[in-house]
Amino acid sequence: MVVLISGNGGNLQAMIDAIRAGRLPARIAAVISNRTDAYGLQRAADAGIHAETLSHTTFDSREAFDRALQQRVDSFQPDLVVLAGFMRIFTADFVRHYAGRMLNIHPSLLPLYKGVHTHRRVLEDGANEHGVSVHFVTPELDGGSVIMQAKVPVLPSDTEETLAQRVHVQEHIIYPRVVKWFVEGRLKLENDQVMLDDNALTRPVQHLSE
Ligand code: GAR
Repeated sequence: MVVLISGNGGNLQAMIDAIRAGRLPARIAAVISNRTDAYGLQRAADAGIHAETLSHTTFDSREAFDRALQQRVDSFQPDLVVLAGFMRIFTADFVRHYAGRMLNIHPSLLPLYKGVHTHRRVLEDGANEHGVSVHFVTPELDGGSVIMQAKVPVLPSDTEETLAQRVHVQEHIIYPRVVKWFVEGRLKLENDQVMLDDNALTRPVQHLSE
């Protein structure tokens, strides 16, 4: 697989750790960041994984960046593209090219809180529940078919940081699990429908915290 990042790379690290521990039968062929300062690049280097930066700032248009990114990704011939905190909106062409073979993790209980600053918005709304979703990527931003979710409580004492931290713990558990289903051939997207073990998923699988 190819993992696309923009920052810290905590989810990338979760994949690296799962592969190392024998929990994820996959290989990361490359990590690509759109930012030179992404800490995830260091994580990749530390794990001996090829890492490179393709800075969106050097392109005139979103289309031109996406075309170049597609070329880089395809040069590794991945079976799966994993978005792990990649903070760019793709063109429909890019998304279509990877239809059914690109996953994203989003820090909310989709379809709630699409877009950015999800933890802040959850706190502002006084919600008592929050969480994270892993979904197939479709052209609508954060609108793809959700595969798995994990819920976390929102506590009265929470700040954006403490809430984000609670969500991150769940992210690092569920994302490698969903990727494992995909690489084992158990998870597919057929006609916009998520199939798990040949059954149509009518609602996201809920991860229950241990
Ligand atoms: C994660 O919380 C991920 O869910 C979120 O960015 C963070 C990246 O953290 N993704 C999005 O907001 C996508 N719209 P990481 O770099 O430590 O994996």
